Amino acid sequence: MQKQLFRLYPPPYAEVSLQGLYLQHQVYEQGRVGQPFVYANFLASLDGRIALEDIHTGRPYLPKSLTTPADFRLFLELEAQADCLVTHGGYLRALAEGLLGNILQIGAHPAGVDLVDWRKARGLAPQPALAIASASLDFVIPRSVREHGQSVYIFTGEGADPIKVEGWRKEGYPVIFAGKGCLVEGQKLIPILGDFGYRSIYLIAGPSMLDTVVRNSWLNRLYQTTTHQLMGGEAFRTMVPGPELGPAGHLILRSLYFDPKGPGGTGQWFSRFDIQ
Ligand SMILES: NC(=O)c1ccc[n+]([C@@H]2O[C@H](COP(=O)([O-])OP(=O)(O)OC[C@H]3O[C@@H](n4cnc5c(N)ncnc54)[C@H](OP(=O)(O)O)[C@@H]3O)[C@@H](O)[C@H]2O)c1
Repeated sequence: MQKQLFRLYPPPYAEVSLQGLYLQHQVYEQGRVGQPFVYANFLASLDGRIALEDIHTGRPYLPKSLTTPADFRLFLELEAQADCLVTHGGYLRALAEGLLGNILQIGAHPAGVDLVDWRKARGLAPQPALAIASASLDFVIPRSVREHGQSVYIFTGEGADPIKVEGWRKEGYPVIFAGKGCLVEGQKLIPILGDFGYRSIYLIAGPSMLDTVVRNSWLNRLYQTTTHQLMGGEAFRTMVPGPELGPAGHLILRSLYFDPKGPGGTGQWFSRFDIQ
């Protein structure tokens, strides 16, 4: 039997099917050429943790109790609607080390095989392009990306190591400067991707990229899964690591769904916010 959720907002209260829930939001139709629709999806505990830090190494990790198959399915439904995914050097290093699984292709995971046909039926490219943000330029492009013929753009800052920039260009990958220092800036990255013709851009990078995109008012929509747990942990990460955001961080709730059978027997909320 398919998993059911409860819609709490907007009214009326109703039982809805998880499968297809975020496909119905038609994210892929929200943007236009030159005016992309930018969205992100984060998982958080009630006390706002998106990751904890290992007390010995200081390295952040995603606690297992934050993740559920339901959330992952919805993540895949959002990914299936993207023209372009924004990822980062840290993810590609973790993928190469076998620390994280591959989420770079539609249909790469059994929970989302149906999404290959879903995309095809809507005339979308078989796979989204990839924009990789990196200051270090230390990562490897996975073989799966070449096998699927995905377009790849490497974004970095003007302060990046010129030898590494040249190295990537020699390998045939465009390296694009989108920031004054070493970091990529949201207000430069998004318009460039818009000029390339991408209409729906899904941020699957971490909190630093979310910060620069939302701070510069280029985020259109935030999906957030909130698991009903107080996580604690002395060292942790939150969604926006930079200074106080002010009005750029003011959101409007568009929908809220409740899953009473979330992680560890507690519930979870699936919320969708648009930026004011
Ligand atoms: N709960 C959730 O929904 C969620 C979502 C995402 C991440 N997380 C967790 O949060 C923790 C931290 O996230 P993270 O490591 O993915 O992300 P992060 O700390 O935001 O960024 C990691 C890497 O991204 C690149 N990067 C980020 N911002 C950049 C910028 N403005 N310009 C250029 N490069 C930039 C850098 O790569 P280089 O080192 O190559 O320069 C950096 O090392 C992890 O444990 C992760 O699992 C949780």
